[in-house]
Amino acid sequence: MKATIMGQGIYRLGVNLESGNLFEGMWPMPDGISINSYVVRGEKTAVIDLVQDINGLPAEFEEELHSIPVVAKEVDYMIINHMEPDHTGWLPEFYRQNPDMEFFVTKKGAKMLKAFCGISGNVHVVATGDSLDLGDGKELVFYEAPNLHWPETMVTYETGSGILFSCDAFGSYGAIRDKVFDDQLSSEEHEFFMKEALRYYANIIAGFSMFVEKAITKLKPLDIKAIAPSHGIIWRERPDAIIDAYAKFARYMNGPAEPEITVIWSSMYGNTGKVVDSIIRGIRSQGVPVHVHRVPDDDVGFILASAWKSSAIVLGMPTYEYRMFPPMAWVIDMFARKKVIKKKVLRFGSFGWSGGAEKELQQLTSRLQWDFMEPLEWQGAPDDKVLTAAEKAASDLAASLKQ
Ligand code: FEO
Repeated sequence: MKATIMGQGIYRLGVNLESGNLFEGMWPMPDGISINSYVVRGEKTAVIDLVQDINGLPAEFEEELHSIPVVAKEVDYMIINHMEPDHTGWLPEFYRQNPDMEFFVTKKGAKMLKAFCGISGNVHVVATGDSLDLGDGKELVFYEAPNLHWPETMVTYETGSGILFSCDAFGSYGAIRDKVFDDQLSSEEHEFFMKEALRYYANIIAGFSMFVEKAITKLKPLDIKAIAPSHGIIWRERPDAIIDAYAKFARYMNGPAEPEITVIWSSMYGNTGKVVDSIIRGIRSQGVPVHVHRVPDDDVGFILASAWKSSAIVLGMPTYEYRMFPPMAWVIDMFARKKVIKKKVLRFGSFGWSGGAEKELQQLTSRLQWDFMEPLEWQGAPDDKVLTAAEKAASDLAASLKQ
């Protein structure tokens, strides 16, 4: 693979983590994810973010670097926007190849650089507004962007081109093959990356939504001509499209989210499952879009994306040994971790000899500010009365989203 020319002296180097891998060791990636690095060349040469040391990715990175052509020894400056190992895993080896390289990183990043990579020499600590002149009209300006994704994170703006190298911010899942820029995508491909941006956001960034809003406000004065993230495509035709999408994703946290409902259900012997059709029928009777996930069949990474954008959630779960059905407890725990807050919620489910799921659900969600409807519980198999009540409750919930 060759590096992609983004402008005079500016290049994108991209590798892909393919679908067999789990991002952060836990999130499925059916269509993979790209890891993008960038080279900016003036009289001096800077590399912005690096690659994970996995699956031969460093060799692919080197091949693209050499295609510019640049070799490790010619890299003067290493800009570290973010220390997570998907961007720094290969840094110790890259540094070994060029011990004269100088590092630019935030104060918190410098501590992590030592902890993760054992690097403490040639380190320049930078803060918002600090700049680095590369010569030949190239200048990098740094902006701290705490918690996008880690506390040490910053973004880098190249003043001549107006490109914002945003690292995780404005990123998405999805491997990148031959099309690197938004203006090269078909409408279906554009839709794909937007959908994968939401899932990436819900999995990786959601819990830090407050900081997304702060960062967007901080970067507003910049004349951003392109967004070049470390995951996903480069937005040069419509950088505002991904900025606006991220602003919308962040707003979903405190609401209002979309007038849609996510149904998440689980069943041991089918007695809770038998009610799902009635729930869906009730929602659809109001013309409200519904996303349906079965647990544990569907991975929580996908469930998070649906729930994050939905104003309401319906939980179907039986009681299991006086408590919640365990796979659903895992989902609810993840909702608490990722701050899936301020949702309208309806729960339905059967119990065998005693209830208990409802009590535990209330305990686990006590800080999520969920607005619960009266739960629908029954012993054993659901009768017609239960099915009718479920359809009505779901219809009422859907109707409430339209007010
Ligand atoms: Fe792509 Fe938070 O690392």
